[in-house]
Amino acid sequence: MISKYLLVLVLLFTAAASCDDQPPQDTAQAPYRDASLPVAQRVADLMSRMSLADKLGQMTQAERGSITPSEVTEFRIGSVLSGGGSVPRPNDRGGWVAMVDAYQRAALATPLGIPFLYGADAVHGHNNVAGATVFPHNIGLGATRDADLVIRIGQAVAQEVAETGVHWTFAPCLCVARDDRWGRTYESFSEDPAVVASMSGIITGIQSQQVMATAKHYLGDGGTTGGKDQGDTQLSLEQLRAIHLPPFEAAVKRDVASVMVSFSSWNGDKVHGSEQLITKVLKDELKFGGFVVSDWNGMDQIDGVKGLSAVDVRTAINAGIDMAMVPQQWGEFLRLLKEEVDAGRVTMARIDDANRRILTKKIEYQLFEQVKTGRNTDTFGGAAHRALAREAVAKSQVLLKNSGVLPLKPRAGKLFVAGRSADNTGNSSGGWTLSWQGGPGPVPGATSVLQGIREVAGPGAQITFAADGAGIDRSYSAAIAVIGELPYAEYQGDRPEGVRLDPGDVAVLASLKASGVPVIVVLISGRPMDVAAHLPGWDALVAGWLPGSEGAGVADVLFGRVSPTGKLPVAWPVDGGQPANTGDGKAVLFPLGFGLTY
Ligand code: GLC
Repeated sequence: MISKYLLVLVLLFTAAASCDDQPPQDTAQAPYRDASLPVAQRVADLMSRMSLADKLGQMTQAERGSITPSEVTEFRIGSVLSGGGSVPRPNDRGGWVAMVDAYQRAALATPLGIPFLYGADAVHGHNNVAGATVFPHNIGLGATRDADLVIRIGQAVAQEVAETGVHWTFAPCLCVARDDRWGRTYESFSEDPAVVASMSGIITGIQSQQVMATAKHYLGDGGTTGGKDQGDTQLSLEQLRAIHLPPFEAAVKRDVASVMVSFSSWNGDKVHGSEQLITKVLKDELKFGGFVVSDWNGMDQIDGVKGLSAVDVRTAINAGIDMAMVPQQWGEFLRLLKEEVDAGRVTMARIDDANRRILTKKIEYQLFEQVKTGRNTDTFGGAAHRALAREAVAKSQVLLKNSGVLPLKPRAGKLFVAGRSADNTGNSSGGWTLSWQGGPGPVPGATSVLQGIREVAGPGAQITFAADGAGIDRSYSAAIAVIGELPYAEYQGDRPEGVRLDPGDVAVLASLKASGVPVIVVLISGRPMDVAAHLPGWDALVAGWLPGSEGAGVADVLFGRVSPTGKLPVAWPVDGGQPANTGDGKAVLFPLGFGLTY
């Protein structure tokens, strides 16, 4: 039963479409469909044929759970997304291709047959999809300082994305994390803008596979006071530009297709409403030629009142946002935007600029030519990508302390493995894995750190595993404790009180220590943790970060198959409750760039 509200909307739109919409035309020979013509000419031809309803629809992105294919046709919606963990059934390549195809057929059934864009967060692999290769989260990639590696990772991730029919990933996050208490620290490559900018090659890798990338979240998301997610970045314009802008300058130089706006505020004003930052700095000064997309209901926060309002819509679009990520409120957005245009409070020049940007990317990325989804590559979760991920895991390990106990010898006598993350690929993968928040438990196709240890140590090794450390005694040559954080995403990972070790982990470490056996700690975490008081009792400490599906990469370093080369992407605070960045004069346990080798 169509709701009363939606009925009104349908009537509104039918009226709008009929009064200013040309009848369906035979566009088979239209210039906009001619791939031999210059992009600008195709865009101009297409826009000359578009009605207001067509143009407003192109600026609208809905979530798959809140829109049907027939509504995509009815309202000429230009994009659909999967929020974190929002997946088709079956959640495999075939299920995704079928889903994307159904929406695409609906988009092609509109009068001008403009293909739609499907977007998803493939932020460390195609992480929503079961069986995908799950790469280390960005903080681990930042520790590699390997610009070539991240280009190759971008290519691999985009291949797996394209094989499911998805056109656009909301990655990379180019945030500069300045306070480790922030729940999105692991999505940052570094606290150092130059390191983050050097990792922007992942954009080139992604886009080389005809998948659009997104530089996010513009601007200053990692600089909020107290590390509060979606909080307030209280900096002068000069400081904001110096710390948070360089990665976006690098992204624009790499012709990034889209930029996503940050939920955060700058000196009290929501960035989603900032014409200065979005239009004057990003579009005019940096000459960004792609399109700007809002974050999930981010517009809604502009006027400080819950619910999408005319002020929200008018302010955001006039600030320079070109596409609205309005997962459920897409109908309300369309209604409000049409009212604002009809009233002249949003000009047609702004609407046309937004459409020109969106359609330019759709034509550049050959959406009209490749409307059938899926590709002839067959790399999804395959050996080549897993080998690449394992290389990345090994290169991301940062050796912070070593009494000489590392590297372990393959036949190093009896080894004891403990810790809640030793045999838990959900913990190793962290947030944005199969679901928005991620969570403990098996990730299909993944290898745990313990499985990696068993593989690298070889069949003759004697390896005992007990997550709680039960059974440890002096007969073991060493104990490896794989501990750290449980998965989280966004504000659910904020730790305003500081990033402390879990009491259960501390108890396991105590029992290992009490046995008199050398203790090697591998920290599976999205950020530095408060370890200063415990460190003296440890014989070795490796920052493992969030390695993803290829846990054997950790073992490669523990056994010296690969010498540790990782360097801290963030300074390691003495006290997990007090942020410390290199150069701010505060004492640190380990400085930015620190890392031992063998
Ligand atoms: C989320 C995140 C953003 C993500 C988007 C779509 O709230 O802030 O990084 O791309 O919504 O899932």
